Parts: sequence; C-alpha cells; structure tokens
Amino acid sequence: MLLFVDACLRDGSRTERLARMWLERRAYEGELRTVSLAELDVNPLEAVGPNTISAYSAAVAGGIYDHPMFEYAKAFARADEVLIAAPFWNYGLPALLDCYLELVCTQGLTFDVDETGAYVSLCRARRLTFVSTAGGAAPDPCDDHAYGKVRTLATRFWHIPQIEYVAAWGLDGPGADVEALLADAL
Ligand SMILES: Cc1cc2nc3c(=O)[nH]c(=O)nc-3n(C[C@H](O)[C@H](O)[C@H](O)COP(=O)(O)O)c2cc1C
Repeated sequence: MLLFVDACLRDGSRTERLARMWLERRAYEGELRTVSLAELDVNPLEAVGPNTISAYSAAVAGGIYDHPMFEYAKAFARADEVLIAAPFWNYGLPALLDCYLELVCTQGLTFDVDETGAYVSLCRARRLTFVSTAGGAAPDPCDDHAYGKVRTLATRFWHIPQIEYVAAWGLDGPGADVEALLADAL
C-alpha cells in the first residue's frame, strides 16, 4: 500500500498538482490510500482536548493503543511506501502536518527504543518521497525545516532507506513559469 499524506490546504494547490504528477509517473501498481489532512480531525497533543498528552503518554507506557488518535500511526506503520506532499511554510511544514506527524511518531507503533537506547523502526516502508513547492528561492539546506524534519524522522525513527525530495522553488516570483518549474522539479 502506498500512503499519500496530502497536506496541501489551498484550493488549486500547486504542491498537490506536483504530487499528482509524481504519482502518475510512479505508476504504483498496489493500493493507493490517501490521507487528506484538510478533511481530518487531526489535533495537536495538548493538555486538554481530543488528543491529550496524558492519554497519549498513558497509552505508550501501557502499550494499549485503542484511542482513535493512534489510527494514523497504525496506518503509517503498515504502508509499503509513503508520499508526503506539503507546501513550504515559514521555512517549515504547515502546522496541520506537524500535528499529524506528532501522532504518527508514537513509540510502540512506528518506532521503539531497544535496551541500548537505540531507535528501532516498526515501519514497513522502504521508500518515502516528500513533495513540496515554495514561493521563494531554495534556502540553504540548514534553513529547510520542512524536508529537514521529514528526513530526520524517516531516517532516525523509521529507518527508511530511500528518501527523495521533489521540490519546485520560486513559484511566486515575478513572471514565474509555474508549469515549467513543476515539470523541472520532477
Ligand atoms: C502561511 C504561508 C507561509 C509561507 N512561507 C513561505 C516561506 O517561508 N518561503 C517561501 O519561499 N514561500 C513561502 N510561502 C509561499 C508558498 O510556499 C508557495 O506559494 C507555495 O507554492 C504554496 O503551495 P500551494 O500552491 O500548494 O498552496 C508561504 C505561503 C503561506 C500561505
């Protein structure tokens, strides 16, 4: 199963178009499952609310993951491949995607810690692609907290060996040829 995490929130999103172009080229033959974050009830872990940090911590400590907030992590762990699409916002990810990732990064579901303190992956995925678009020029890599975060999680927690970044920059610049920039990114 290829899990498409769609964090494109704007009508007419160019990032979503780039992700669809990538999917067409990928021509994945198995099941495609899309998680559209704009349509989901994804909330941050917080002191009070549907996903309280105390309920989360108790579940992790007891290894009982029956709260609905854990469904995202369970589906993520089962994916054979992951595609994440999100626009570049304020040098990082849209907050909604951060909330989703907060829930996906559940110890005992997508990763664990062994007796030496090392992270052990509980994910099946061997390939993860991150698709993004930005209004401005590509930043220095150390300022790219969108791909930087995705890459760190995919490497450190989930041990995904093949990680790809497909990004189109400068889409909001004067006279930008958006179609050409998207095609170049692929
Ligand atoms: C809240 C917000 C924050 C943004 N932050 C940045 C930024 O830090 N750097 C940048 O180059 N563009 C930034 N942009 C521009 C978007 O990255 C750009 O328009 C992108 O192509 C939007 O993707 P979409 O068409 O899929 O919505 C921002 C746009 C918004 C709405």
